[in-house]
Amino acid sequence: MILVNENFSKLQASYLFSEIAKRVRAYQEATPDAAIIRLGIGDVTLPLAPACLEAMHRAVDELGHSATFRGYGPEQGYAFLREAIAQNDYQARGCDIAPDEIFVSDGSKCDCANIQELFAGEGLRIAIPDPVYPVYVDTNVMAGRTGPARDGRYDGLVYLEGTAANGFVPAPPAEPVDLIYLCFPNNPTGAVATREQLQAWVDYARANKALILFDAAYEAFIRDPAIPHSIYEIPGARDCAIEFRSFSKKAGFTGVRCAFTVVPKGLLAYAKDGTAVPLHPMWNRRHTTKFNGVSYPVQRAAEAVYSADGACQTTQQVDYYLGNAKLIRAGIRALGLDCVGGDNSPYVWVNVRGDSWAFFDRLLHAAQVVTTPGAGFGKCGEGYIRISAFNDRAKVQEAMGRIAQAL
Ligand code: MLT
Repeated sequence: MILVNENFSKLQASYLFSEIAKRVRAYQEATPDAAIIRLGIGDVTLPLAPACLEAMHRAVDELGHSATFRGYGPEQGYAFLREAIAQNDYQARGCDIAPDEIFVSDGSKCDCANIQELFAGEGLRIAIPDPVYPVYVDTNVMAGRTGPARDGRYDGLVYLEGTAANGFVPAPPAEPVDLIYLCFPNNPTGAVATREQLQAWVDYARANKALILFDAAYEAFIRDPAIPHSIYEIPGARDCAIEFRSFSKKAGFTGVRCAFTVVPKGLLAYAKDGTAVPLHPMWNRRHTTKFNGVSYPVQRAAEAVYSADGACQTTQQVDYYLGNAKLIRAGIRALGLDCVGGDNSPYVWVNVRGDSWAFFDRLLHAAQVVTTPGAGFGKCGEGYIRISAFNDRAKVQEAMGRIAQAL
């Protein structure tokens, strides 16, 4: 008899963004004339930067000629892209990261879920922020690393509460944990962590032989020069952290698909008997066994992000979304509501002083604007909504006008 993975039955509700899509679909069907504006899921709207597009076109043409055709590429990514990443994203910031410590993939969502395969199936003490990108929690539930949910939280997880009191940047817990998820600039709150705050996490991880999974998918939105873009800007991080990065938000690749994971050589985890085991060869083994690499044209497009034109064009795109975030913040504050985020992040986190799904429904029905209810990100997200700055400027302006009228 084929047995099912019963951990799936522990999952609470459907994946957040599917549930939102379902409600929006139902509303659209009931009111077909409603011109809905989507400030919910963080999905880019600007077309690809010309430098990326041209690089992709050239690469596609190469595939059409026998002299330049390519079949399978290296599973870890082509050297041209790994070198560009190491140089521009890391070495230029003083981080000691080599090209062969970078694993190119088709997305950080998959990477931050797949990385769990390297760790023990049970007995791990896992610290997860609340509110949080739901993928970190749900994938641990699916893998059987939690108990059942009670009152909106899973048994066996250590929740790191992000609240207005700590500026939505939780400090390390008093108890020891083994695996720590951190995301800065934060999804969903838009909060950023200072060098000192990240140093406290690195020191804690090293003292506890713990591992930090650092999701830096939104680093391109950092404009404050004092804020680190990478965990590897923090001394000691090479010994205790894996970093996830993505071209989705940095260069508008949500549909193109390209990301990467950094696993420093010498980063260790431990066998039950205490033997130290390097993670780099394990991830290399996993990646090369289960993945055949990102397509050549996509990797050429990603490489172009680091060209002079590509860097300039993609920075302009990010600035455009940050301009939207500024409008959103101003509009929300003009309504007398508090908000954070949106200055080094595309997300604005709004205190709605009440039930977040009810507020989501109210904005959908009264203003035809889609946001994301904070409760979907965890218990500490209740009372908040997230507004995404990924949309056209005119639509953001229109949305804020409609919200002002509706509230
Ligand atoms: C979000 O809206 O939180 C993100 O777009 C989700 C993702 O990047 O997978």
